[in-house]
Amino acid sequence: MTAAGTFRDRYGPWAVVAGASVGLGEALARALAARGLHLVLLARRPEPLEALAARLRADHGVEVRTAALDLARPDLGEAVAAATAGLEVGLLAYNAAASAIGPFLDRPLAEQLAVLDVNCRGPLVLCHGLGGPMARRGRGGILLMASLAGGQGNPWLASYAASKAFEIVLAEGLWSELRGRGVDVLACRAGATRTPGFEASRPRAEVPLMAPDDVVAEALAALGRGPTVVAGRLNRLAAFLFARLLPRRAAIAVMERATRRLYEAPPP
Ligand SMILES: NC(=O)c1ccc[n+]([C@@H]2O[C@H](COP(=O)([O-])OP(=O)(O)OC[C@H]3O[C@@H](n4cnc5c(N)ncnc54)[C@H](OP(=O)(O)O)[C@@H]3O)[C@@H](O)[C@H]2O)c1
Repeated sequence: MTAAGTFRDRYGPWAVVAGASVGLGEALARALAARGLHLVLLARRPEPLEALAARLRADHGVEVRTAALDLARPDLGEAVAAATAGLEVGLLAYNAAASAIGPFLDRPLAEQLAVLDVNCRGPLVLCHGLGGPMARRGRGGILLMASLAGGQGNPWLASYAASKAFEIVLAEGLWSELRGRGVDVLACRAGATRTPGFEASRPRAEVPLMAPDDVVAEALAALGRGPTVVAGRLNRLAAFLFARLLPRRAAIAVMERATRRLYEAPPP
């Protein structure tokens, strides 16, 4: 059996990619289509979703459905249940995230609450809704796209980093609960990656960036091998330093310096 065949048997026939149209989500959708999975693609803007769906159908011969929706909507579970009605979903890849960059008290509360809705409530709702049928069938996978930022407090990205810690810890708990029921759960901790989302955050300094395809290849290879993976050799080194060598206060200070360097406007 081919590697794609094995992957499809384990995690097919359908996958849901939440936050699928560009960046890491687009790379995920392409990688899953290349492995022969049919896809339900979710994102807010319909045009990029439709364009990607058409490309994936043409390139890989898979079925692709799209649903333009906001993952922050209060009835997310019902909306995704309607979009996947009648489909056997064997894989959930939750990729979308919201962020609030800058001093916590200077950013509107609504922006911080969107971080909570998209990055915490969304994955929780979809893990519950789609994970149940997977566990009953005795096979499936859940991949949460988290971040290196979730390893410690991150001044200027406080709510985003906290939300990514939520995803990591949620994945660890579900990894242990569900592996006995045939469902592999993984949080991928990505570092800075060249995506439209990263570019739109208008970083003011250069940082080493990974290509989305490389992050996705490492994430999919790690599914079924443990609860978390850090994508990229440099990022693995950074994660090791932060978790094992630096005192927590020092790790927070390093993250603050790095984030302010990236986003703080120079003094006039
Ligand atoms: N890029 C990085 O440097 C980096 C680093 C570490 C971790 N990560 C993690 O990787 C993931 C993807 O990042 P990315 O940079 O690829 O993001 P991105 O370029 O901003 O793309 C996000 C995708 O999610 C969709 N999306 C965003 N908000 C949504 C919402 N409320 N409802 C539905 N769909 C939504 C977007 O489409 P619409 O705008 O049309 O909705 C888009 O398809 C995130 O979880 C992020 O935390 C990224």
